[in-house]
Amino acid sequence: MYQWFVAPLCLLLIGSCGGQYEPTWESIDSRPLPEWFDQAKFGIFIHWGVFSVPSYGSEWFWWYWQGQKFPSYVSFMEKNYPPGFTYADFAAQFRAEFFDPKQWVDIFASSGAKYIVLTTKHHEGFTLWGSKYSWSWNAVDVGPKRDLVDELATALRKYSDLRLGLYHSLFEWFNPLYRADADNKFNTTVFPTTKTIPELYEIVNRFKPEVLWSDGDGDAPDTYWNSTGFLAWLYNDSPVRDTVVTNDRWGYGSICKHGGYYTCSDRYNPGHLVKHKWENCLTIDQKSWGYRRDAKLSDFLTTDQLIASLVETVACGGNWLLNVGPTHDGRIMPIFEERLRQIGQWLKVNGEAIYNSSAWRVQNDTVTPGVWYTWNQKENAIYAIFLSWPAEGYIVLSDPVVSASKTQVVLLGYKPLSWESIKPTGLKVHLPQLVPDQMPCSWAWTLQLTGVA
Ligand SMILES: *[C@@H]1O[C@H](CO)[C@@H](O)[C@H](O)[C@H]1NC(C)=O
Ligand SMILES: *[C@@H]1O[C@H](CO)[C@@H](O)[C@H](O)[C@H]1NC(C)=O
Ligand SMILES: *[C@@H]1O[C@H](CO)[C@@H](O)[C@H](O)[C@H]1NC(C)=O
Ligand SMILES: *[C@@H]1O[C@H](CO)[C@@H](O)[C@H](O)[C@H]1NC(C)=O
Repeated sequence: MYQWFVAPLCLLLIGSCGGQYEPTWESIDSRPLPEWFDQAKFGIFIHWGVFSVPSYGSEWFWWYWQGQKFPSYVSFMEKNYPPGFTYADFAAQFRAEFFDPKQWVDIFASSGAKYIVLTTKHHEGFTLWGSKYSWSWNAVDVGPKRDLVDELATALRKYSDLRLGLYHSLFEWFNPLYRADADNKFNTTVFPTTKTIPELYEIVNRFKPEVLWSDGDGDAPDTYWNSTGFLAWLYNDSPVRDTVVTNDRWGYGSICKHGGYYTCSDRYNPGHLVKHKWENCLTIDQKSWGYRRDAKLSDFLTTDQLIASLVETVACGGNWLLNVGPTHDGRIMPIFEERLRQIGQWLKVNGEAIYNSSAWRVQNDTVTPGVWYTWNQKENAIYAIFLSWPAEGYIVLSDPVVSASKTQVVLLGYKPLSWESIKPTGLKVHLPQLVPDQMPCSWAWTLQLTGVA
């Protein structure tokens, strides 16, 4: 809205709209978040890189092995690789021979997600696109010999209406230019000016992402990264200036404070309303973002747990960014695929309580545990999502204010239900007795309430 009327104004007055945002946090933070992001609610995070080759422990493999020298990582290398094997040697085995971007897009679309965020470069520095600034340490020169970012972005646009998001790490653990700047206490800026910032311009201009997910400040302030300078360009002059959203990881101290939406910490899920738009990024494999072969079944969140997390996040005003880690050969393991497809099945029935919804006056019921509320202004309805089916055959909702003549209650995917009002406020909804085949869905159920206050 803001830009819609400012644009003609500045065209009239100064002949150009460049420069609307200045390279200061005050100005950058004043930009309204493009509406699509809050409406979308659900995205898929993809952590893929050279770390997917050892696929042991964590995507922080290189740092844990040679930075921290954790004994389990050191001994993993001693037992399984010849002496002198370097992290760079893993890149040749990153072949992506089964990578079928169309199949990935099919899985992502089936989940009901509205955007994806792909790691174009993690802290290891390896770029999944053929970057001009990452000589011989990118997926076109070594490993797959394919531009993985381009292939996925192209398939996403061809086969779905999901929006493209790109993750990019500002710092790189072992890059000598970064280390030299760090040794100078970041008074020199060789690394950001020759590597980080040129890469950011490169991915925005080439792939036109609508989410730019920055990470990895390397303990350096945003002034070292020239973050506000870059963001002013992104918001004023980039090819995605009208629709792009970005996060808050733009330098030491900016997290949960500056930029676009807040991510605060990984797996941020505060359980209460947060007024500034935020996103909960989390992993299906609770111990790693990258694929790891040493995961156990109990490490994976169940569909029950995932849907509970989605519901709680959305009720509190957040977006939900769920991570999968593909294998080095380009597969999305069936356990991840099954989780994603089941979330999609649930959203097919309950989507009107999620997409385009807003936080309501109350986030979870003040009396009955495990009931989360959302509100859809356009449908003029309140949704009470309950995470377990009560054995008593009824559920008490204590916060909606009902009216005997106007209030209607519908179980989504089923039909209207009878209810009675209770004191001091609220209602008791009688649930039908259903055998499993008659259930509209599994994992969680939604009551749509209309005619309530
Ligand atoms: C670098 O900058 C810091 C403050 O930003 C200053 O304290 C320090 O003396 C500067 N010079 C060097 C060589 O670290
Ligand atoms: C920071 O970014 C702005 C906008 O791209 C640019 O004009 C400026 O020269 C950059 N500053 C430094 C120190 O690189
Ligand atoms: C959400 O609202 C937008 C804008 O009105 C609309 O284009 C979109 O189709 C809606 N999405 C859903 C899932 O209803
Ligand atoms: C509502 O959610 C908060 C945060 O998770 C929790 O502390 C509180 O106990 C919940 N209320 C009920 C009645 O379960």
